[in-house]
Amino acid sequence: MTHLTAGSVALTASTAAQPRRLRLSPAIRTMVRETSLSAGDFIYPLFVTHGHSLKREVASMPGVFQWSPDLLAAEAESIARLGIPAVLLFGIPDHKDATGTESCAPDGAVQQAVRIIKQAVPDMVVITDVCLCEYTDHGHCGVLNTGGDHRRPYPQLPEGYVLNAETLEILADVAVSHAEAGADIVAPSGMMDGMVRAIRTGLDTRGFEHLAILSYSTKYASAFYGPFRDAAQGVPKFGDRRSHQMDPANAREALRETALDVAEGADMLMVKPALAYLDIIRMIRERFEALPLVAYNVSGEYAMIKAAAANGWLNERQTALETLTSIKRAGADLIITYHAKEAAQWLK
Ligand code: PBG
Repeated sequence: MTHLTAGSVALTASTAAQPRRLRLSPAIRTMVRETSLSAGDFIYPLFVTHGHSLKREVASMPGVFQWSPDLLAAEAESIARLGIPAVLLFGIPDHKDATGTESCAPDGAVQQAVRIIKQAVPDMVVITDVCLCEYTDHGHCGVLNTGGDHRRPYPQLPEGYVLNAETLEILADVAVSHAEAGADIVAPSGMMDGMVRAIRTGLDTRGFEHLAILSYSTKYASAFYGPFRDAAQGVPKFGDRRSHQMDPANAREALRETALDVAEGADMLMVKPALAYLDIIRMIRERFEALPLVAYNVSGEYAMIKAAAANGWLNERQTALETLTSIKRAGADLIITYHAKEAAQWLK
């Protein structure tokens, strides 16, 4: 220990350990930075609907739009120019029904968008969300245990329960229809048991053995999806998603969900949401180190920053970049984020 005197203040400094030496200048700080963030880390979600020349802003998500397919060629070009390698597509159908028929339609909004984007920017990685909640009139992620005259197909299961096997059949068809349109990766988000295997089998038997599956392997029943449900018009008309999405109180269960998806053939894993689940990201990164891990920085996480920034309560740029950095630091390889375009510009 050396005793120094600075003005009237006596300083005690250890010559051995002074972490501040490495924070002395911007150049040194940059050199020793452990986590890097760049546009190449981002996947940008896009909401696609029917129509022409349509670009409608989502009220609870400033800067996020519902797009008609014809505008997506130019939008994909601008996303690519920013260095963002991938988009994730969600569809809003014209017509909703009990089994979400339009989800498999060759001229569905997503199927059209995939073709347009792949034609405009062939190198753009096009990922499609595979779920039924935007396509069903009840807003649930699959076929329900509901019949007329209170006769339900499975009396032993609760009224309104999302039926697993019946839903899997449709999900496999949805994935195949996305593949036929030219998608590069399909991303099942419905948290049905056996969903990765059903989709893998469906793809393989239709000649799409080469297509990768990004599984929403750990998806919580989260209140942070609120703004998304406005954007994609997938609000459940009754009840909630707790009989298939995970309880936010559970961590070990994420290991079980992930192990099953890996065994069923998932090529990439996901943790969703991101910010309230950084411990889960870290855990999955450590326990399943061989597979790429994607974190979904969800709609509510985006809306919170936008709202606080609009009020002048937070600096948007700094808060968003700090958030995205923390998600990478926790162990994510890639981040699905509505901030992708702005962050890519800030990081230039
Ligand atoms: C389901 C799906 C949801 C989100 C992505 N896929 C909604 C849900 O599970 O209720 C949420 C994404 C977000 O909040 O940004 N198709």
